[in-house]
Parts: sequence; C-alpha cells; structure tokens
Amino acid sequence: MNSSNLIPVTLIPGDGIGPEIVDATLAALDALHAPFDWDRQIAGLGGIQAAGDPLPAATLDSIRRTRLALKGPLETPSGGGYRSSNVRLREEFQLYANLRPARTIIPGGRFDKIDLVVVRENLEGLYIGHEYYIPIDDDPRAVAMATGINTRAGSRRLLEFAFEHAVATGRKKVSIVHKANIMKALTGIFLETGIDLYERKYKGRFELETVIIDACAMKLVINPWQFDMLVTTNLFGDILSDLVAGLVGGLGMTPGANIGADAAIFEAVHGSAPDIAGKGIANPIALMLAAAMMLDHCKLPELAARLRKAIDETLNIDKVRTGDLGGTASTAAFTKALVSRIRTG
Ligand code: NAI
Repeated sequence: MNSSNLIPVTLIPGDGIGPEIVDATLAALDALHAPFDWDRQIAGLGGIQAAGDPLPAATLDSIRRTRLALKGPLETPSGGGYRSSNVRLREEFQLYANLRPARTIIPGGRFDKIDLVVVRENLEGLYIGHEYYIPIDDDPRAVAMATGINTRAGSRRLLEFAFEHAVATGRKKVSIVHKANIMKALTGIFLETGIDLYERKYKGRFELETVIIDACAMKLVINPWQFDMLVTTNLFGDILSDLVAGLVGGLGMTPGANIGADAAIFEAVHGSAPDIAGKGIANPIALMLAAAMMLDHCKLPELAARLRKAIDETLNIDKVRTGDLGGTASTAAFTKALVSRIRTG
C-alpha cells in the first residue's frame, strides 16, 4: 500500500507492561496488514524520564495532527506527584465518552455469556482532581476537600452518545447508574438529564432503568445478565468498569475507547501493572481488543472481526493463554500463536 493511503496514528507505548503489550498488538496489526502509519511518542513516567514532562508537547502535537491514538497504560503516582496524563489527554482532546465493552470470550467461567458495555462520562464529576487542603494549627493538611462538577450540557452529550450507541448496536436496556439519593445535585443532574433525554427522544427504542451505584455493584455480582448497558458519571464508571472486567476474566480482557467530537484514543482499561512489568507474562488481549475497536472506528470492520476471531481461536481452540487466564503462555508465546491464527485464518 502507498504510504499516502495509510492512516496516521499516534502510538504511545506507555509505562510498566505498556511496551510489552504494545509490541504484541503491533505484531497482530502487522499480520493483518492494518493500514496504519505509526508516530511513536512518549507520556507518563516515560515522559518524565525522557523529557521531564508526563505529557510532552511533541506527544500533544502528534495527536493534534493525527486525532487518533493507540496507547499503553500510563503510570500516575498516588497521593502526591504529577497529575494523571490520562486525565489531561482526555481534557485536552475533549474525549467526553469512555466506551468499555466487556464480553465473555472463554466460556465456562464463573460468569458465562457476559455481554455488557459501560459508558463512562470522561471529563467531569469528582474525577477532575480539583482538590485542596485546609491547614489547622500546625497541620498543613488537617482537612482535605474535593470539588466535583457535573454540568447539564456535559451530562447530555455523554448520555446522547450512550443512547445513540445503544440504538446503533441493538442494546435492549440502558441503566443509568447514580447516587442521587445522597449526592442530590452532583449526580442528580446526570440522572435528571438522562430521564428527560430518554422521554423526549428515545422512549420505546430501548428500556431505560435507573439504579443506585451501591445496589448496582451488588446486582452485578449476583446477576450481571440483568444488565445490558450501564451509563454513569466519571468516578462510578471508573470503578464499575474494573468490576465488570472481573466478570469476564479480569483486566487483561477489557478494552476502552476515549471518544470526542474529533479525536479518539484507544487503550486497555487496566493500568501499567508494575507488579508484573518486564516479566514477559502480561496478557495483551485488552490492548488488542482496543485495537479492534480502533479498526471499527476507522471503518475497517473486517480487520477488526479477523482480530477478534483470532483471539477467540487462540484462547479456545489452541488453548494458549497467559497466567491471569489460568494458562502458562508468555506474552510472546500467546502473540506467536495469535499471529499464526491471523495468517492462516
Ligand atoms: P493495574 O490495572 O495496573 O493492575 C491491577 C492488577 O491487575 C495487578 O495485579 C496487575 O498485575 C493485573 N493486571 C493488569 N493488567 C494486566 C494484564 N494485561 N495482564 C495480566 N495482569 C494484569 O492497576 P494498579 O496496579 O492499581 O495501577 C498501576 C498504575 O497504572 C498506576 O500508576 C495507575 O495510576 C495506572 N493506571 C493507568 C491507567 C491508564 O493508563 N489508562 C488505568 C488504570 C491505572
């Protein structure tokens, strides 16, 4: 293929297991002859080490040009330290919707036949990191405060994205997850906007229910099949998407897409997994499924389908699985088996 026909994509290998799973994903995309022209950039801890900045200007410039990125996880220190590069990237490119599908690929697990999608508001809520300390006497951090902000406009555009996605993908039921009984204003505005939007535009196209976050967590563990799509505010979505990942085999299995009006960044739901980084045992499937979402986004659904089929066959026919899935394969051995499935498929 002529290089001018290639789709420019910013590639951020990321921290911890990032480079290992990114290499595995590139091997799969190469085997598919996916028409991408990669622009490799750094961020996170890698950005600090190489350029003194967790989000270097060159990385931002690259995404401004490509409007598309595939990214490994970025490390964020807990407590003090620099602000999350993930949050900054979402803000910079106004990636207001976070789409996180979770589907059972290996049958016979504790929760079989799961097919759920979490849609998380990505720019507002308690996640914005507007936090303060109030000093009292000789304690400079005697009181900690956080400000959460949800707007009607921000809630509406995310809910509209979720409802449109529900219609386009044939979802039967959407559950708005909230805590409006206690955080009456902060999550009440999201709930109220969702019900209003549904009544005005979407009634009859799918069923809408509302559920309080704590009850939702319990229901997801007792009977996850009662849900189809969950749509919620930023922090609740962050937590619920890890819970939902646990229903389909863990964090190694769930991809995510951060989508805005004119840019999109694809990544795994999981983080940099420092406990297993460099050991060559990480499961690359979550990032590969994120790459499949990117192929769909780029209107290459046949390549996306081939990638998903090869993952399924490698896991279920060849029985090649990494340790988190109960197997013994290294990242490289899984990738080799997958690439051979792609080539022969
Ligand atoms: P984590 O998701 O990195 O790891 C949680 C557990 O899951 C660990 O035991 C890890 O070994 C395991 N795990 C995760 N991905 C795996 C994979 N692909 N294969 C096998 N096992 C896997 O969460 P943690 O430890 O809380 O966070 C580590 C760092 O990652 C933090 O700095 C955090 O801020 C960052 N992070 C970055 C994200 C992003 O870039 N989108 C998302 C979540 C966390």
